[in-house]
Amino acid sequence: MNRYHPLLVTLHWLVAIMILISLVVGGPMLADIKNSDPQKISVLTGHMIWGMCIGGLMLARLAIRVFTRKPPNADAGHSTLDFGARVTHAALYLLVFAMVASGLGIAFSADIIAVAFGGSDAPLPASFNDISARTAHGIIATLILLLVALHVLGWAYHQFVRKDRLISRMWFGRKAG
Ligand code: HEM
Ligand code: HEM
Repeated sequence: MNRYHPLLVTLHWLVAIMILISLVVGGPMLADIKNSDPQKISVLTGHMIWGMCIGGLMLARLAIRVFTRKPPNADAGHSTLDFGARVTHAALYLLVFAMVASGLGIAFSADIIAVAFGGSDAPLPASFNDISARTAHGIIATLILLLVALHVLGWAYHQFVRKDRLISRMWFGRKAG
């Protein structure tokens, strides 16, 4: 077994693209629209559906990871780097779940669910800024971006320094090796 299960590979890249879109485009665009703007509810509803899909796909990914065989831990040539990679991977799962949970936290605290999905025409609060889940959502977004940057640096180290084509473990191909 020298690569991850094809389903896990598919979900890795699908979820990575979806997360990066919300972190870099969707989320910041949503935060720039004032709550009094009539467009806000539809953009907010789209962001919430997108974010909950990320949560569902990430849960599916975790389940598939538990129930499929995976390649042995990668060797970066130093035990500290190998440990760092394991911590980064676990932290990525944790922070993505924390991002979805804090998003839901804002939605419940501000009663947005009924407005977005229940047909309620109650107005949105003037802003979400005084909700603590909103503060957490912003901080976690920055932490995920930093961790993804570290993750990509790890890949670059394997690709260009170790030259071991680590990326092929997270791509499709023959199982045996
Ligand atoms: C939001 C973006 C991303 C997230 C959340 C993410 C998350 C993860 C996680 C949690 C793993 C560990 C495998 C597992 O348990 O599922 C992993 C593995 C991997 N990722 Fe990412 N990833 C992201 C983006 C990227 C990008 C942009 C690259 C490439 C430049 C990349 C390359 C890899 C590679 C090569 C592995 C295999 C590492 C190994 O076998 O030890 N990832 N990723
Ligand atoms: C992994 C999934 C998610 C990502 C990557 C994400 C990303 C973001 C980002 C980057 C922001 C702007 C942060 C800032 O500028 O400080 C944001 C704002 C927000 N997100 Fe998410 N989000 C996710 C899931 C969710 C979910 C599941 C919900 C609700 C069910 C949600 C509700 C919100 C709300 C209400 C705001 C505040 C908008 C405002 O201040 O006007 N998010 N999100």
